[in-house]
Amino acid sequence: MVTNILGISAYYHDSAAALIREGEIIAAAQEERFTRQKGDARFPTASISYCLAEAGISMAELDCAVFYEKPLVKFERLLETYLTFVPKGFQAFRSAIPLWASSKLHLSRELKAGLGEQFRGQLFFTDHHESHAASAFFPSPFDEAAILTLDAVGEWATSSIGVGKNNRIEILKELRFPHSLGMLYSAFTFYTGFQVNSGEYKLMGLAPYGQPVYTDLILDKIADIKEDGSLWLDMSYFNYCQGLTMTSEKFHDLFGGPPREPETFITQKEMDLAASVQKVCEEMVLRTARYANKLTRAKNLVMAGGVALNCVANGKLLREGPFENIWIQPAAGDAGGALGSALLVWHHLLGRERKLNQHDSQKGSFLGPSFSNDDIGLFLDSVGAIYEYIPNETILLNRVARLLGEENVVGWFQGRMEYGPRALGNRSIIADARSDRMQQTMNLKIKFRESFRPFAPCVLREFVHEFFDMRPDENSPYMLFVAPLLEKHRIKLAPEDLERMNNPDLRIRVSVPRSSLPAITHVDFSARIQTIDPERHGRFYRLMRRFYEITGCPVIVNTSFNIRSEPIVCSFEEAFECFMGTEIDCLVLENFLLMKKDQPTGLLKDPEQYKSQYALD
Ligand SMILES: [Fe+2]
Repeated sequence: MVTNILGISAYYHDSAAALIREGEIIAAAQEERFTRQKGDARFPTASISYCLAEAGISMAELDCAVFYEKPLVKFERLLETYLTFVPKGFQAFRSAIPLWASSKLHLSRELKAGLGEQFRGQLFFTDHHESHAASAFFPSPFDEAAILTLDAVGEWATSSIGVGKNNRIEILKELRFPHSLGMLYSAFTFYTGFQVNSGEYKLMGLAPYGQPVYTDLILDKIADIKEDGSLWLDMSYFNYCQGLTMTSEKFHDLFGGPPREPETFITQKEMDLAASVQKVCEEMVLRTARYANKLTRAKNLVMAGGVALNCVANGKLLREGPFENIWIQPAAGDAGGALGSALLVWHHLLGRERKLNQHDSQKGSFLGPSFSNDDIGLFLDSVGAIYEYIPNETILLNRVARLLGEENVVGWFQGRMEYGPRALGNRSIIADARSDRMQQTMNLKIKFRESFRPFAPCVLREFVHEFFDMRPDENSPYMLFVAPLLEKHRIKLAPEDLERMNNPDLRIRVSVPRSSLPAITHVDFSARIQTIDPERHGRFYRLMRRFYEITGCPVIVNTSFNIRSEPIVCSFEEAFECFMGTEIDCLVLENFLLMKKDQPTGLLKDPEQYKSQYALD
């Protein structure tokens, strides 16, 4: 008898399902990839169907299902918050409670309805922060580690310190709502005109343009960070307890005006605010980590929760923090709670042992669907696409590496889809990082965004220390650490380039080549690194090796296979649509190679029409 456990996260942001069998991660995916609605928060019907299909079982064969948080405790937190802020809280109460009353309070019934009559297993609920903690520790390569969860909010906890040993985790300390680093960061995301729950990444990318001139003001008036990393927020500057927005009038007065309107010009003030709150975030993460180290005496650290996606803070922690090794759950946000809750049932409830893997048990986070050459071929024939089928991998990789070196942008679709927010080399758009026109070309003609952020580099793991400030034994297989590019790869700016660096338009500034790898170097010489290794990345690693043999360069650009606001492509049909609706030059679908220039004009999609399918994020 084998035990199959299904983990579910839903109803807040980015629903997901994960299936483990005898403790091994079999499948995990976010609902948005199937429904094509970014951050889809509905019951993850499609993700569950996929997980069952991947495991080759029916709903009736599931032993149990588990939801990643406890609805009654969360309801208690909402209720208490609203009551504390009466009468102002009533407005938020009135809009939130009917939804809770109709669905979330009856979650058990709702979940059973979603799973259907066939489901005969037991249904469990785990604590939100324990789910995050479990997702960080159990798949990690460590038998012992300190655990940090850094989040906006779950039930009551907003961040926690814990410890993991063998098959047990224990939460030692927690910080409680409304005092929350995630909420503080999201408040500044909102105030600087980006979308809460997705724009935090943009705010982090904006920070290198600014100076942290508001840090003291934030620490003086709004946020008090103690030596142990605990945080106290003056709630009169916020509106998320009693209202439907993040910040209050008092917050706006403190920073001299209302929030920036989304999509309007970004001024120095927004850049400075971004730099300031980023500094506060880094300080809190560092202090919390030092305290966790003191409490646990552990040499390893694992992390999860939305704030653990702040790879700039993670990079700083790696370089300046007290831990020797850090592993971060790639699906660090609430989608990862699905996996964590399933692992908690297996290890805690069923008391089963952990099998350690020296690399980690996350399988590169390639836990989603894959597609066969047969199905791809049938599809390409049915639409009349022109392609070459190249069954020999050496020949295929040689062709693609050469195309990359000739400044072609390649849509690269291989194997199983990634679990978590980043494309890690199976649903990626890739290009030559040495090209000084690539940043702009990819932003404007492919992603359809006018971005002030550079792209992320993939570097062969064996070369990471030759390009970036990282140790030879350090890994970043999930693109979760930012590190500075080494001095020797930087170039001295010419006087006219220095002038361009003062241009108010950030797109001009980011386009100034400041290193031998301009497409991936930010204005402060930082880069969000993914290390590529043979164990996790297989064919993608071999492609990069071939590119290195041809060009001498072990670095390429990697961005997710989608346009702005579109969920990352899941199937080959979506990859083909994106290829035909953008200026991607070549498409590789498993062993098929397609060139844009060869395609019948009738198959080309109007980019405007393609873009219009997705509301701006
Ligand atoms: Fe969370």
